[in-house]
Amino acid sequence: MMRSTGCENKALWSEISDPRPYPCLSGDIETEVAVVGGGITGISAAYLLAQAGKKVVVLEAHKVSMGTTGSSTGNLYAPVDERLFSVAEKHGDEVLKEVVSSRLAAIDFIEQRVDECAIACDFQRVPWHLFDTEGINEEIQKEYEAAFKAGLAVVSGALVGFPFPASDITTIHHQAQFNPLAYTQALAKHTDSSNCLIFEETSVLNVTDGDPCILQTDRGTVKAEKVVMATHSPKGIYAVHTAMQAKREPALAVRLKGPLPLPGVYWHIVGNRQYSIRPFRSPEGDFLLVLGKTYPVGQEEYAEDSIVKLELYLRKYFEVDSIDYTWAAQNYRPADNLPYIGTSIMEKNIFIATGFAADGLVYGTLAAMIISDRILGKENQWRELYNPKRFTPIASAKTLLKENYEVSKHLLQDWLFYDQDKDLADLKRGEGTTLVINKEKIAAYKDEIGKLHLVSSVCTHMGCIVHWNSAEKSWDCPCHGSRFSIDGKVLEGPAYQDLAKPKPDGKKMNPELECFNFFATPSILTKKKSIKFSNLS
Ligand code: FES
Repeated sequence: MMRSTGCENKALWSEISDPRPYPCLSGDIETEVAVVGGGITGISAAYLLAQAGKKVVVLEAHKVSMGTTGSSTGNLYAPVDERLFSVAEKHGDEVLKEVVSSRLAAIDFIEQRVDECAIACDFQRVPWHLFDTEGINEEIQKEYEAAFKAGLAVVSGALVGFPFPASDITTIHHQAQFNPLAYTQALAKHTDSSNCLIFEETSVLNVTDGDPCILQTDRGTVKAEKVVMATHSPKGIYAVHTAMQAKREPALAVRLKGPLPLPGVYWHIVGNRQYSIRPFRSPEGDFLLVLGKTYPVGQEEYAEDSIVKLELYLRKYFEVDSIDYTWAAQNYRPADNLPYIGTSIMEKNIFIATGFAADGLVYGTLAAMIISDRILGKENQWRELYNPKRFTPIASAKTLLKENYEVSKHLLQDWLFYDQDKDLADLKRGEGTTLVINKEKIAAYKDEIGKLHLVSSVCTHMGCIVHWNSAEKSWDCPCHGSRFSIDGKVLEGPAYQDLAKPKPDGKKMNPELECFNFFATPSILTKKKSIKFSNLS
């Protein structure tokens, strides 16, 4: 459990949402565009493409917008988590201005949809603040200068209506916040249903680029002229996986004893940590949402610790009445501080949208705008800025070296020094561990009633060893961020396939991965009679 004091281990938004259920795919289908993933990126792309007359099929493995979109804070802002001045340092002032103008356009797009479709998602324009409470902070000064250079309405002022004063602050007016789950669910409802079919509980198991592209799912085959990989990190094996760091970010929603701060986005720098804070008022109550310091996926020592530290921070700075919700969200940090949006090096008809860092609501919307323009044959002024094929060796060098060192380290260390001596009998209730059973590498979890859950500990993406996440009760891969449930189901990340189940007859679970075949791809083709998009209702 992430906490044991009666709070809910899920995002606040899921509690106050009004989802419409969608069917799962049954049978084969042909379409013009297949969108993999029903978060803000996928639904926004489907909305735009269907509105322009394209036949679209959305394939969501779980429920629409209940993944990363529904786990985000709902903050919409032109700055970026890695700082605007960092973008300017890596790419120059012109790119900085383009990044800001593109992000502002995406926020405007959301506001226009809210107005046009009368979406009840508590959208409001609010100020964004970056502040310190322990003196003058050079980083804040640099961010002020970069925001000014980019043409934003930036001021140095004071925190008004906040429980404690700032010692240094930069404020940018006319940013925004909303309920991301309510917005995306409503946008899905307003997507032209005569042109777009949305399927939930439909897992895509493989995608082949071509004319047409072939998408194998667990419920049928989809043929599509174009594919939009709106899965946060693209499913399968892509070069961008080697250029991104997968991080998790702990979050809490709490009730305060005193009044909530005024509406706004608050980023509080405390030493080398940053806390993202926003108030949210609802008929169900007034909440303060707080996100803590990110930690690398699959590094178990950080998971519990991050929530503990987040709670300590909250109790130090706020009068907390109750902690009501706790969760974590995943993000992927790009090597050169810019996301990857477009077709990658190897593919012609598959579009990817990834590397959004912690700024995914805006970048996801922007990705939908750029990709839909490309599919519709329209010009888009930001197409080249975020092109995944861009070559930025200097700006990317540090992250590329670090990320590839980390992946190599995990591959070698976890395979060469895999713990052969652990005994299943030593596993306590509520604990998980990796060990060897019948010469197989196994991930074992013993639940609270003593039932064992055994799956292969070899990640189905590229063969790294998964690690136990005690905070979220999941198996997480440190290499590219795939996460699996205690029974091996893919939760998120680039892996297509679930973790293999141990075979009672002693046969190998996944021999292709046992020999470090990093480019193993699943072969799950099943032949079924194909039907046209228009034949499905
Ligand atoms: Fe790539 Fe596990 S996510 S090997």
